[in-house]
Amino acid sequence: MTERVPLLIDCDTGIDDALALLYAAASPDAELIAVTCLSGNVEARQVARNTLAVLELAGRAEVEVALGREVPLERPLEIAPETHGPRGLGYADLPTAARPLSDRFGPDVIVDAARRRPGEITLVTLGPLTNVALALLSEPELPRLLRRWVLMGGSYRSGGNTAPTTEWNVHCDPEAARLCFARFGEATEAAGTPRPLALGLDVTERAKMTPDHVVALARRAGSRPDPSLDPGHDPETRSIASHRVVRFVADALRFYMEFHSRFDGFYGAFVHDPLAVAAALDPSLVRTEAVTVDVELAGTLTTGETVTDWRRVWGRPPNVDVAVEADASRFFDMLVERVGDLAARIGE
Ligand code: RIB
Ligand code: CA
Repeated sequence: MTERVPLLIDCDTGIDDALALLYAAASPDAELIAVTCLSGNVEARQVARNTLAVLELAGRAEVEVALGREVPLERPLEIAPETHGPRGLGYADLPTAARPLSDRFGPDVIVDAARRRPGEITLVTLGPLTNVALALLSEPELPRLLRRWVLMGGSYRSGGNTAPTTEWNVHCDPEAARLCFARFGEATEAAGTPRPLALGLDVTERAKMTPDHVVALARRAGSRPDPSLDPGHDPETRSIASHRVVRFVADALRFYMEFHSRFDGFYGAFVHDPLAVAAALDPSLVRTEAVTVDVELAGTLTTGETVTDWRRVWGRPPNVDVAVEADASRFFDMLVERVGDLAARIGE
């Protein structure tokens, strides 16, 4: 029996977050404890609706979904409808989930779970870090109570996707990010807790999902593929794949692929978040370097930059394991296999 990794996911369900949730739900080596939501790609309440609907699609309606913070710690809220669509799932339309949101507050869910299962839970964050910052303020021992924190966020020696040197998740709430990196670093120094594993754009922009991956997933699911992802296809014409999971993936990704076609010059999609979940379950997917990271808060041009001391000029102890390489090919094989098999299991 595969040892299952207890995961708590904090996300801003958008398109790649949704794929990450499907990956987690499909992974036999994951024990999905709960999902907490916050604003990012879209507003928090829409994130929560999306998250409930995606987990229902995946046959995991028993997983608690809790709403967290709806605005950043200090800065005004920004969202990204041009990237993920007005409701956050591209062209996909999912039925509203039958069950309600948890009545608990997201940061409290994180703290309670860590206290209940000290040293066991891996926290995976796929959006801005506001919920984690609030959880740390409520429970300063959180770094010691978690098994590890894995994040999709930052850009450590590459350019940004939101400004020349800033990545979206950190850009949305740099004060929260700075607090998280600092507090986890203090715990590593004081108690030897594992450094967070950070997957920044340096590696997540190597996870380029293409229409061929979706066709392979459809085939694995036993679903009739469909032409909806063919370049030049009328974007308003929805997928006719015979399987509802495949239709969802195709309709969500088509919007995302059109965005990347316009802004990144290729018809495909950087699937940042599922790579982070995959690496949380199997750290051998990435190679890391221990470095010192801090977050710029007062830069005219660089606020939200994850400033990384690659040459150790600060003389401060490393506080983050930054992923510098990723095995994207093996990741996509796992994504196609796991989500395709999930679809085949739950039926059309
Ligand atoms: O910069 C990429 C990150 O921002 C991903 O998590 C994506 O979902 C958006 O939240
Ligand atoms: Ca995200």
